[in-house]
Amino acid sequence: MSLLIINGRIVTASDDYVADVYCENGTIAAIGRDLPAHRFQAERTIDAAGQYVIPGGIDVHTHLNMPFGGATSADDFESGTIAAAFGGTTSIVDFAIQYRGQTMRHALDDWRKRADGKAVIDYGFHMIITELEDAGLSEMDRMVRDEGITSFKLFMAYPGVFMVDDATIFRALRRTGENGGLVCMHAENGGVIDELVKEALRKGETAPKYHALTRPPTAEGEATGRAIALSEMAGVPIYIVHLSAAHALEKVKQARDMGLPAYAETCPQYLFLSYDNYEEPGFEGSKYVMSPPLREKWHQDVLWKGLAKNDLQVISTDHCPFCMSEKALGKDDFSKIPNGAPGIETRLTLVHDGGVRPGRITMNRFVELCSTTPAKMFGLFPRKGTIAVGSDADIVIFDPNRSATLGVKTLHMNVDYNPYEGRTVQGSPSTVIANGQVVIEGNEFVGKKGAGRFLSRGHSQAPAGL
Ligand code: URP
Ligand code: ZN
Ligand code: ZN
Repeated sequence: MSLLIINGRIVTASDDYVADVYCENGTIAAIGRDLPAHRFQAERTIDAAGQYVIPGGIDVHTHLNMPFGGATSADDFESGTIAAAFGGTTSIVDFAIQYRGQTMRHALDDWRKRADGKAVIDYGFHMIITELEDAGLSEMDRMVRDEGITSFKLFMAYPGVFMVDDATIFRALRRTGENGGLVCMHAENGGVIDELVKEALRKGETAPKYHALTRPPTAEGEATGRAIALSEMAGVPIYIVHLSAAHALEKVKQARDMGLPAYAETCPQYLFLSYDNYEEPGFEGSKYVMSPPLREKWHQDVLWKGLAKNDLQVISTDHCPFCMSEKALGKDDFSKIPNGAPGIETRLTLVHDGGVRPGRITMNRFVELCSTTPAKMFGLFPRKGTIAVGSDADIVIFDPNRSATLGVKTLHMNVDYNPYEGRTVQGSPSTVIANGQVVIEGNEFVGKKGAGRFLSRGHSQAPAGL
C-alpha cells in the first residue's frame, strides 16, 4: 500500500512547514514539496490543504478489558482501540497486572491474549507489580531484556489490592538502575486515605463526593514527594502517572529544579473537570469517581502552566470506563464504586480546543505532549512520535476547523455516559492513518480488527533528560 498526503501543514514537536508525505509499506518513505515521482506511484492521494499533518497520538496510560473493583472496564482491545483511532491515537501502552502469587510472565501472556487479534492500532504494555521478591527481580530483567516491557507501574494506594510498601518500591527502582526499566508511580498515600474512608463511612457519608473528600491533594503531594525521594536515593528516574493536584506538581517541579530526573503526566479530566462535578444531583457524581479524584478548579490553571513549562511532560488519558450499572456497585458506599472514566477518544480534541486554541500551549507543544514525549519516555522513538523518513506511517490529518460535539451518541467508546456530554470542541481528526493504512475516514472506521501489532519497546530516553 502506498499513500501520498499532499499540501498539509506538517507539525512535529519542533517543526511546522507545508510539505507532502509519501508512505510506503507502513513507513514514511519521503517528505518534500511537490514529490512528482511519487504522484504517479501512490495508490492513493489525500489532499490535506488547510489541515495539520501530525504524528499519531500515543496514549501511554489505558486500561482496556481490565478487572477492577468487582467489574471489568467496558472497552476491550477492539472497541477501545477503534475509539482511540477515531480520536487520533494510533498507539497505546496499556497495563498488564501481575497479581500476588502470579508471575509477570503469566500476566504478560494473559494481557497479550486480551489484545492479540483484536486491537486495530499498535499496543504495548507496562507491567503492574504488586509484589516483588527475588524471583520477581529477575523477571523484571527478563521483561526489559526479552519482552520489550520496559516500564513498571507500582501503587502507593489501594491497600490490600495493589499497594506496595516503600521497601518494595525502592527495590524496584534500584533494579531499574541495572536493567534500564522505568518505574511509573501511582502516588497517593493509601494508608491515610484508607483511614479517611473508614471515618467517612462510620459517619454515614456514602455519596460519590466523599470519594474526593477522602483523597485530599495533600495525600497526593506527600506520596509524590516520597516517590521522588525514593528514586533519588535509588539514583534512577521516576515517572509519576495521572498527576492531578498542584501539591504534587510542586514536588515534581522542585525535583526538576534540583536537576533530578523526575517526570510526570496529567490527563484531560484534570484539566477540564473539577470537584464541582461530584456535586451533580443523585448518583451522577459516580461518573467522575477515579483516583486521584478531580480537584478544585484552581488546580487546572496550575497544571496548564506546568504543561507549558515542561514541569509536566505527557498528557495521557487513564482511560478506564465503567458503565453506570457497574458504578452502581457503590450506590450505598462510595468506596465500592469502580474507579475510572472514559477518555481514550477525546484527548486530542480536548487538548487542542482547550489548550492550543486559547494559546495555553503551542501546536508544537501539543504534538510533543500527546505523541513525541510519550514515544521517547517509553522507548518508541523515533519509530513512533514524529513525522520523519523511516518512522512508522502513523499520521493524523487534523482539521482545526472541524468541530465535534462530544457525547455518547457521537463517540465510539463502549460506555453509556461521557464526562464531557454536550461539549463542543473545535478541531478534530478528519483522517487517521496507522502503519500506512487509513483507519478513520471522516466519521467511518475503515481499519481492520487485529491489524494492531504488539510493540516490543526499547529503553526510555528519560535518563538523557526530557
Ligand atoms: O481511577 C483510576 N485511575 N482507575 C484506573 C486505575 C489507576 O489507578 O490508574
Ligand atoms: Zn493509577
Ligand atoms: Zn490508570
